[in-house]
Amino acid sequence: MTPLPHHAAKPPMKGILLAGGSGTRLHPMTLASSKQMLPVYDKPMIYYPLSTLMLAGIRDIMIISTPRDLPQFRSLLGDGSQYGVSFSYREQPSPDGIAQAFVIADDWIDGAPCALILGDNLIFADHLSTTLQNAARLEHGATVFAYQVRDPERYGVVSFAPDGRALDIVEKPTHPKSHWAVVGLYFYDSRVSEFARRLKPSARGELEITDLNMIYLQEQSLRVEPLGRGCAWLDAGMPDSLMQAGTFVQTIQSRQGMLVGSPAEVAFRMGYIDAQQLRSWADRMIKTALGQTLRAIADGG
Ligand code: DAU
Repeated sequence: MTPLPHHAAKPPMKGILLAGGSGTRLHPMTLASSKQMLPVYDKPMIYYPLSTLMLAGIRDIMIISTPRDLPQFRSLLGDGSQYGVSFSYREQPSPDGIAQAFVIADDWIDGAPCALILGDNLIFADHLSTTLQNAARLEHGATVFAYQVRDPERYGVVSFAPDGRALDIVEKPTHPKSHWAVVGLYFYDSRVSEFARRLKPSARGELEITDLNMIYLQEQSLRVEPLGRGCAWLDAGMPDSLMQAGTFVQTIQSRQGMLVGSPAEVAFRMGYIDAQQLRSWADRMIKTALGQTLRAIADGG
């Protein structure tokens, strides 16, 4: 029998893609189907946050959604083998808060560090993969990102001390202390489920992600990384922002001839699949510009 190594390797970071909620701000489009299935230009919305997690180097991903919508995601994304990654699925019976994801997924996380991304968040920036991969290497504490917005009262808002230290985070404040919104992408160490279990529902009855972040902030282990003005962070949760996200993706893709939010391309560039696997994936959608671009990438273009 081979003896077990004295120091077992640390488990790699896992990732949760939270794609539930009731989508009421997009009715009637979401009366019968999931918000995160709606198109953002040429792809389903969920492709964008999925690409972000994969770009961070995360290959073990759980998709959490409503009992109604989960089967749709399963049929869209399968087991992940087409991207050289692994997808698991789990229901959130009712939208009781973002932080509840870590309670729902506790046994699957199984003591690994874990990231979470909201299924309606699109992040686009130069050097994003380096930023994400650095965050995914964390061993202790948590990393979140902040982005300057015109309407901070819609978000979790972080305020900073003059030396750049984060002072506090308030969820949807009536009088925001800054314009820095917390982005819907979070990286946590292996204690995250234990901390999530300590949370009590807020006044609106949810386990708040902001309260989870405050636990890390209070023990001084929360890093808040500002994303600069060259970065685009969009959430596609309302008709205007959905339209803007689609126009943004169309503009970049048609100008540069490069893809935004393609899990297949990310899988290839990260070395999760080879050119032949990408080619056969591209050929399934070869009548589309997306399929043709993927084919050109596989052929070395
Ligand atoms: O987008 C970033 C913001 O996301 C953060 O700045 C806030 O701190 C954070 O609370 C969150 O605010 P939202 O108002 O966008 O949260 P919302 O309730 O809309 O949920 C965000 C997404 O997560 C949405 O697509 C639905 C999904 N969701 C939400 C809840 C509460 C679930 O799947 N399950 C849930 O229980």
